[in-house]
Order: sequence, then structure tokens, then C-alpha cells
Amino acid sequence: MTEVVHTPEALQQALAATRESASQGPVSLVPTMGALHEGHLTLVREARKLGNPVVVSIFVNPLQFAPGEDLDAYPRTLEEDVAKLEAEDVAAVFAPTPETMYPHGPRTTVHPGPLGSVLEGKTRPTHFAGVLTVVAKLFNLTGATDAFFGEKDYQQLVLIRQMVDDLHLPVRIHGCPIVRDADGLALSSRNRYLSAAERATALAIPRALATGSLAKARQLLDATEGLHLDYLVTTAPDLSELPVGYTGPARMLVAAKVGTTRLLDNAPIEVEAPTN
Ligand code: PAF
Repeated sequence: MTEVVHTPEALQQALAATRESASQGPVSLVPTMGALHEGHLTLVREARKLGNPVVVSIFVNPLQFAPGEDLDAYPRTLEEDVAKLEAEDVAAVFAPTPETMYPHGPRTTVHPGPLGSVLEGKTRPTHFAGVLTVVAKLFNLTGATDAFFGEKDYQQLVLIRQMVDDLHLPVRIHGCPIVRDADGLALSSRNRYLSAAERATALAIPRALATGSLAKARQLLDATEGLHLDYLVTTAPDLSELPVGYTGPARMLVAAKVGTTRLLDNAPIEVEAPTN
């Protein structure tokens, strides 16, 4: 039976029944903003494999939205989400209110450092401070020993690993591969904003990534009417710049707007030596 709780105290009580002892023993956390899809459920299934009690948090975190972004429009589907999680047999769903999470407003926050100002951070300068702050709070509130994040928000994942490392947080971070629809589009709660025509346009993104080549990907995306490219880059897996002449594993990342929807996607690629 999955318990749905809304306060830290109720969460502690719910967990006490499932942990090895009242306040100890491993806990796996899957942080989400709800509107759950197969991508989230895959994270939950990965978390369950560890055998620890699994907590799924559902919280649309105001701190990671800038004024004018889709905070109010962001889908809130708690009942449907809980039904999906019941079927996955999670120990508890933690669904706090903004007042519970930020009783003093955003006061002490986590600064993401320089990596928070590039790529997504250029367009959304306050976004990653909001993400890292809520993730750190969720780690503390749940006592998580393991936490699961999708590679879809790749910069977020790298920054969370960096925070755990820099702040010595005792949490193991598990990154899970992107889950895609049959047509190739990466699953995202924001895909529901796309019309059928916009979705068809958006498919250029996974097709571009599948070329594995920055030049070919750029050509394809530039030629796609209705798609407005924000960035397309190849970086090292830790998002640092590729040294000149580099060969080996890398990451290609793309952000583009289709209609009013901003879409992110990325893929691992292999940079090969040029053939003469
Ligand atoms: O990826 C998300 O859904 C959110 O950024 C997260 C990690 C749950 C923090 O609000």
C-alpha cells in the first residue's frame, strides 16, 4: 500500500514502518514534479531494484521557474500519479505544498557555480539554483541514500552529481537513460503542450541526435521549419569543453523551441578521428 503524505513529519512516520529501523537504513528517492510518464516509472523500477523502500516526491518547485515561465500551467495530476505509483508498489509518495517546502520563502539556497550559467542556464539563469536547492532539501527530508534522475535533463544530472561531490552529501546518484516514445521523441511532461503538427516538427530533434555528427545534426535542425534552435553542442560527458583533437565518448545536447514549447534532448556520441 502506497502512503501519500504531505508533511516531513508524516513522511518520517510512513518511512519508519518500512526502513530497517525507525530512523536508519537505506532509502531510495525518485524526485519528480509529477505528471508522471514511462520515463518516471522507469526511474521508479530502477530504484526498486535496489530493494530499499522507495519514496517518490511530487512537487512542482516554484524556485526553479522564472517569472513568465509555465509554473501555473505546469500539469498537476496528483490522483493519476498516485494510481500509477500504487501499481509500482512504492513505500511513500511525498507531495508537500510550497509553504511546507519554503516556510521562510527562498532564503538559504544552493549556488550551482559556473556550470549553472551555461546551456540551459543562459536562458534560465535562476533555474539550477532552484533545482539544486529543492533536491538538497528532498535528500535531507527523506534521508535518501540513493537518488534516481533521468539523463533527459542532462545538465541537471551533472549539476546534481557536482553538488553531491562538492557538498559531501551522503547520497549515491543513479543516472538513467532517456526513455523515448515509439516515434523517437524523448518523454517529457511538457510534450503534452505540443499540437500534432508541432510534435511532427519536434521529431527532427531525435533524428538530428541519431546522426551522431554535429555538422549533420545542425544541417537537419536548421532545415526544419517551425523549429527554433537555441543550442546544439558536443561536450565531454561532464559537460566540459572537448579538447582540440579529442576522440572518444562525448555528449551531444540540443535545446529548441517548437511553438511555445522548449524541448531538450541529448545523446551519447563517439567522437572519431577524422579519416583522410
Ligand atoms: O527533473 C525534475 O523533474 C525536477 O527538476 C526535479 C529534479 C524533480 C527538481 O524539482
